[in-house]
Amino acid sequence: MIDIHTHVLPGIDDGSRDLRTSMRMLMMAYKYGTRRVIATPHFRGDRYTATPDQIYRLTEQLNENIQTVGLQDLKVYPGNEILYDSRTSRYLREGRVLGLADTTYALIEFMPYVAEEEVRRAVMDIRMSGFRPVIAHVERYDQLEMDPDILYDLREQGARIQINASSLEGKVKRRILRTMKEGLIDFVASDGHGLEHRPMILGQNRRYIEKKLGTEAARDLYCCNAGEILAESPYR
Ligand SMILES: [Fe+2]
Repeated sequence: MIDIHTHVLPGIDDGSRDLRTSMRMLMMAYKYGTRRVIATPHFRGDRYTATPDQIYRLTEQLNENIQTVGLQDLKVYPGNEILYDSRTSRYLREGRVLGLADTTYALIEFMPYVAEEEVRRAVMDIRMSGFRPVIAHVERYDQLEMDPDILYDLREQGARIQINASSLEGKVKRRILRTMKEGLIDFVASDGHGLEHRPMILGQNRRYIEKKLGTEAARDLYCCNAGEILAESPYR
């Protein structure tokens, strides 16, 4: 499986605290079947502002450690989770923030109360600058209400849609399933921040999804769709 949304890099945002925690997060992910991980530290203009160089360096450090502990078939890629604002598309173009695995897919988050119009505008804005927005944990935005019509439109505009694995156990589970059935969700990711709170485990609901949607649809959600991103990465 491929996890496209994680806060596994140490000491850079509100995710992993240190290298030891990062390695334990990775080992846990590995144990539950994840083999590819995109590190997506927060980029929020005023608070989290790690530079691409820092992100590259920490990603490399994790990959070196992975080799040391013998998890040869596990790999970490660089990236960002970008809180959208008016500077986002310029920052993407200038390389001040990173696309997922350094591709033109960009993981974009919004404040929970964001207006639907703002999301639509953001998607257009990012598309115009040559990037493809992946909307992070879409189930969190109250005003979108997991409305199939809205998700359909956003995807038509060129957005891709991610939900958090942990939400498959929450109140929005039914709505998520309905939109999944309609093919409106592209990725299940962990959004893992640590070992306990939202751990970096992807697959615990995969069986359930397979049962509800079929094995092929589950494979797309947990693996194949993300594989298309990695296929474009310079770090293959
Ligand atoms: Fe996140």
